[in-house]
Amino acid sequence: MAYLNTVGKPNILVVGAGAVGTTLAAYLMAARQSVRLLIRERHTAEFQAASQLTVDRIGGGESLRVPKPELFTKLDLTGIDFLLICVKHAALDGVIAQLPSTLPPGMTLVSTLNGISAVPRLRRCYPADQVSNVTVMFNAQLLSPLHSQITTKPQIIIDSGDSKLLELFNNSGMEVKRTNGEAIAWGKLLLNLANAVCAITHTTAKDLLTVPDLRAIYAAVLDEAVDLIEHAGISYQLPLPLPYKLFRQLILHGGPLPWWIARVRNGLQAGSYPSMVADVEGGRATEVNQLNGEIVSLGRAQNLPTPINSGIVDLVREFEGKPPPPYLKPAALRARLGL
Ligand SMILES: NC(=O)c1ccc[n+]([C@@H]2O[C@H](COP(=O)([O-])OP(=O)(O)OC[C@H]3O[C@@H](n4cnc5c(N)ncnc54)[C@H](OP(=O)(O)O)[C@@H]3O)[C@@H](O)[C@H]2O)c1
Repeated sequence: MAYLNTVGKPNILVVGAGAVGTTLAAYLMAARQSVRLLIRERHTAEFQAASQLTVDRIGGGESLRVPKPELFTKLDLTGIDFLLICVKHAALDGVIAQLPSTLPPGMTLVSTLNGISAVPRLRRCYPADQVSNVTVMFNAQLLSPLHSQITTKPQIIIDSGDSKLLELFNNSGMEVKRTNGEAIAWGKLLLNLANAVCAITHTTAKDLLTVPDLRAIYAAVLDEAVDLIEHAGISYQLPLPLPYKLFRQLILHGGPLPWWIARVRNGLQAGSYPSMVADVEGGRATEVNQLNGEIVSLGRAQNLPTPINSGIVDLVREFEGKPPPPYLKPAALRARLGL
């Protein structure tokens, strides 16, 4: 395939060559876009040594192999139309510190961060119409520099009416849906409340949907969150087109159905685990404050208790920076949360 003709195409800078940044950069290259990738200076040699960008698609056929984009170690916005921020929350302030106080006219910042706090954070710095959100629906891990693996179908949901942004991934194999407003991001946050449960118990997504103690914990975490979200009048849209009551019935009493649906609908693979599992295992900071912690903040704002999500946040925070953490068995976590 020739990847040379990017004349007239928007220029895209992907910030962060981790699991999401590498995967999105590869699909953008497959869409024959003009892509630059901002990497850490200390990783330059390893990234230069990689000959191409690769995304392995477990269970989904052949790997995607494309030429690597131009690599940069300094953030330079000259000529950039879309800046995709693909870092974790702990690094977001560092990225904002590298940005100028006024963005180049016509440039759009695109957040791919999980949770719902990154976009308001960016909009406090820049005009709302220069900031868009992408909800990343796939699950990815970085295997080595410029080499990631996805364990679900490649799918993103873009909260924007900008046709140029919506068309960036055309013909790349990345499924793109459009949304308007935060409901999808809140729905994804509800799914991501499971990440901490897996991190504390060192379990996979399959375990979460098949082990009865984990299913009971997840339903309780969700019940608390959904009550608060509904009490606050926030719209949310679950990734499955089901009302919440039915969704929780499925989690609690659906037998093999939840795992079967996750496999067939999202292409979820048996070994797939949320990245918080790897963060806790590696002693790194997690995004629990921006996920379950968001529910705790919502409770605080409404003067309502959040014992389950608070308990989960406290445990993950205890585990951070202490590898190997003292993982709990699912039954022990259930007992600890009083369920
Ligand atoms: N992975 C998934 O499956 C998935 C799915 C949905 C959503 N998300 C969300 O997407 C976001 C990114 O997640 P991720 O899994 O891709 O994280 P990740 O694998 O940790 O990748 C982030 C990368 O950004 C780099 N970075 C941080 N600050 C930087 C800077 N100022 N300049 C250049 N590079 C910088 C990091 O380098 P260092 O490691 O050296 O700091 C790291 O390589 C998170 O909010 C996550 O919740 C992830």
